Amino acid sequence: MKWVLGIESSCDETGVAVVGYEPDGARPPVLAAHALHSQIEMHQAYGGVVPELASRDHIRRVLPLTQQVLSAAGLRRDDLDCVAYTRGPGLAGALLVGAGGACAMGAALDRPVLGVHHLEGHLLSPFLSADPPEFPFVALLVSGGHTQLMAVESLGRYRILGETIDDAAGEAFDKSAKLMGLPYPGGPALSRLANDGDPKAFALPRPLLHSGDLDFSFAGLKTAVLTQCKKLGDQLPVRRADLAASTQAAIVEVLLKKTLAALEQTGIDRLVVAGGVGANQSLRQALSAACQKRHIRVHYPELALCTDNGAMIAMAAALRLQAGLAQSRRDYGFDVRPRWPLDEVGQAIPS
Ligand code: KG4
Ligand code: ZN
Repeated sequence: MKWVLGIESSCDETGVAVVGYEPDGARPPVLAAHALHSQIEMHQAYGGVVPELASRDHIRRVLPLTQQVLSAAGLRRDDLDCVAYTRGPGLAGALLVGAGGACAMGAALDRPVLGVHHLEGHLLSPFLSADPPEFPFVALLVSGGHTQLMAVESLGRYRILGETIDDAAGEAFDKSAKLMGLPYPGGPALSRLANDGDPKAFALPRPLLHSGDLDFSFAGLKTAVLTQCKKLGDQLPVRRADLAASTQAAIVEVLLKKTLAALEQTGIDRLVVAGGVGANQSLRQALSAACQKRHIRVHYPELALCTDNGAMIAMAAALRLQAGLAQSRRDYGFDVRPRWPLDEVGQAIPS
């Protein structure tokens, strides 16, 4: 068994994990241990992520979390065979902490390092579940910064079918929640409140629903929520749950319809849902019900692994190393890619 340490530090969560894999591919990689520190409480006072505070906190957390996962996995530092880290996309300073920490560890232990694409981590996170998917599949990647539909033909072969032209789905949740006076991060807060509201109470726009392509746009929805908040004025507190439910229904409907269109267009009968918004219960219910009717298998990451974590980074690295599709390196010089389109990752030359 070879052991990969994975470090995630692209935004407001420090995640560290160890995944083991058989180099001959005899068995799929397995998660040995993972640990996470969320900075939500620290950023809450500011209503959103403060990049400089995020970087400083990652510095404090990376090594203690590494020690924690090694002891939970029953491993010593010397047992590690590779140190993987999130190279991008994300906040530049935050990424630099993980990359710097990983490369320093690699140099100290004389082990190779490997930079991983954050979205590939999300995309492959269902491989950490008890019911992992098989290729090919359509992926709906819905995070705080990205909303993309992809045809995933095999490991490293990612064809973007459609994506958002402005705000991401997670951003639509977060910004609408903020307008309604809900605390950061808005997605989970808005969806909890939506349970008590009427999704038909407000007629909110479903942008690009009938555009005929697989692109998304959520900026107009946020403006419509703002208009409703202003109109409601003093009435907002008593109608907040209805507005939350209506906002969630608009986002879910667009994601559902476009995902079904992507499945139909590609003829693929398997769907993977990944990224923070994939934790949304209303989205899960809508997708599961529609896919069941169409005999399409749906795979979700474990709930705890929908949002950012180190396990998905270690898993993506292990899958690539196992398939011979990534070259870990020993030069320890590093850069980060705050903006990094997923289709640029491609299939690296086998080592
Ligand atoms: O994937 P993620 O952890 O970070 C990025 O890579 O961006 O996604 C975070 C996003 C945030 O916008 C958050 O509000 C949203 O996922 N989110 C949710 C839920 N849980 C997290 N949105 C809706 N419902 C949820 N239950
Ligand atoms: Zn993420």
